[in-house]
Order: sequence, then structure tokens, then C-alpha cells
Amino acid sequence: MADMFGKLYVRSIRLSDMPPARNYISTLPVVRNLAQMGELRFDKPVTIFVGENGVGKSTLIEALAVAMGFNAEGGTRNFRFSTENTHSELYQYLTVVKGMKYPKDGFFLRAESFYNVATNIDQMDSAPSFGPPIIDSYGGVSLHEQSHGESFMALVENRFGGNGVYILDEPEAALSPMRVMTLMARINELVKKNSQFIISTHSPMLMTLPGAEIYEISGGGIKSVSYEETEHFQVMRNFLNAPERSLKYLLEE
Ligand SMILES: Nc1ncnc2c1ncn2[C@@H]1O[C@H](COP(=O)(O)OP(=O)(O)OP(=O)(O)O)[C@@H](O)[C@H]1O
Ligand SMILES: [Mg+2]
Repeated sequence: MADMFGKLYVRSIRLSDMPPARNYISTLPVVRNLAQMGELRFDKPVTIFVGENGVGKSTLIEALAVAMGFNAEGGTRNFRFSTENTHSELYQYLTVVKGMKYPKDGFFLRAESFYNVATNIDQMDSAPSFGPPIIDSYGGVSLHEQSHGESFMALVENRFGGNGVYILDEPEAALSPMRVMTLMARINELVKKNSQFIISTHSPMLMTLPGAEIYEISGGGIKSVSYEETEHFQVMRNFLNAPERSLKYLLEE
């Protein structure tokens, strides 16, 4: 399902410049691969980045989010809070080729700083204002008064409205397997409402989303793969098929 009708908001990314060698980002596999490839295309409404811990998935999608005008710690484009200025400089070296249409909605979600997003909503609502409380568009209950997974699903179900670009870093982090499936159904629904998702994940379940492009990042490059080809899927399948056998190998070797 290529983007024949120009429905996608992010079409491709490339490095406009190589970050200086003294900056650690220049050594990340994802950055070296991007430099080699020239362009990384987004042709499907869902793009999934997978790969070993530390290859630079979060660094990449955060840079993409910041380059698109999102707050580095998460939220919509209206969020301006900052608790710690820890985002990398990669966004300064990234060119984002955008589609014909401007997204009407959008959200950048980092599992690591979702707590700060929740705090920021509460703070904005405690300040005097004439409009309705912001939390209303998140389901009406303070995200701090719900469990991690509940608050995350409240966000996805109430606040994500379609016609948007949603950048999610490990959205599965808070969710039970059942809720991961609920999330997948919701993503599918939002894709039908002209949305684009860019996701980094370790969840083999999420990787099976129909019509998603999976990019596996490693020292050897950025490869488009099927979910069966990912290490995550294979390791999880082998383990779940015979946990005792895997454990025997692991614990007795
Ligand atoms: N300020 C920093 N200085 C030096 N190295 C850093 C800094 N911040 C992050 N890194 C390194 O950048 C690398 C990429 O981190 P990143 O969070 O993008 O990885 P990831 O692919 O998202 O991994 P994971 O799957 O664990 O989430 C890591 O090896 C990390 O140690
Ligand atoms: Mg990460």
C-alpha cells in the first residue's frame, strides 16, 4: 500500500549534514546507516522501527518529532514543558520531507516521560482559564489517577482524533497483551481516518500490524523486513513454544 494518493504527512527523512565526530550521535548505527542510505522513505501509514537496545531508535524518532515541532518530552505541538533538556541534537541534522497535507492532529509519546505529560496537563488545568479543562479531551480523569496502562489507553482512545501523525516510542511498555491488541485495533481505526504512525517497539505483537513497514536497524544497515524475519518475533516464538527448553539452555550452560 504505497502512498499513491499523497495521504502521508511524513514522506521521508535524510541527514542534511553529518553530525560532528565529537558528538556521540555520529557513532549511532541509525545515524551511520542514514548517512549511507541517503534517504529513508515512509511509504505506508504505519512505520515500525525495531532493533537491539541502543541502536538509536528513540534518538531517531525523537529527532523526527522535534523537527516536526513536537515537544521533546512528549505531547501535542502545544506542549511546551521541559523537565530536563536531555534530547539529542540529531534534529538539527535531519531533513524531514513532508507530504502535501498538514496534519490536523498529532502526538509524540515517549514511554519514559509520559508521567511528565500527565503532570503538565494537571498543571495547565490548575491555572485559571476560560476554556474547558484540557483533561476533558483525555477522557476527563487525571492521568495520574489511573494506572500506567489505563492512562495510556485513555490518551489513545480520547485524545488521538485522526488526520494526524502519531509518533510513539515503545507504546507497549504500559500494556497487557490484551491491551496491546486494543491498541492495534485503535491504530487501524486511526489509519482509516487518514493518520500516520511512526513507532519504535520491541513488541512482536505490534510488529504484526497489517500493512506496516518494519525497518530493522542494526550495525549492518536499515532493512525492510517482515515480522517473521525480526529477531524479536523469532526469539519470542521459540521461547513461548518451549520455555523449559529455552531456560534449560540458558541456565545450565
Ligand atoms: N547524552 C548521551 N551521551 C552519550 N551517549 C548517549 C547519550 N544519550 C544516549 N546515548 C546513547 O545513544 C544510544 C542510543 O540510544 P537510544 O535510546 O536511541 O536507543 P534505542 O534504540 O531506543 O534503545 P532501546 O531499545 O533500549 O530503547 C545508546 O547507546 C545510549 O547509550
Ligand atoms: Mg528506545
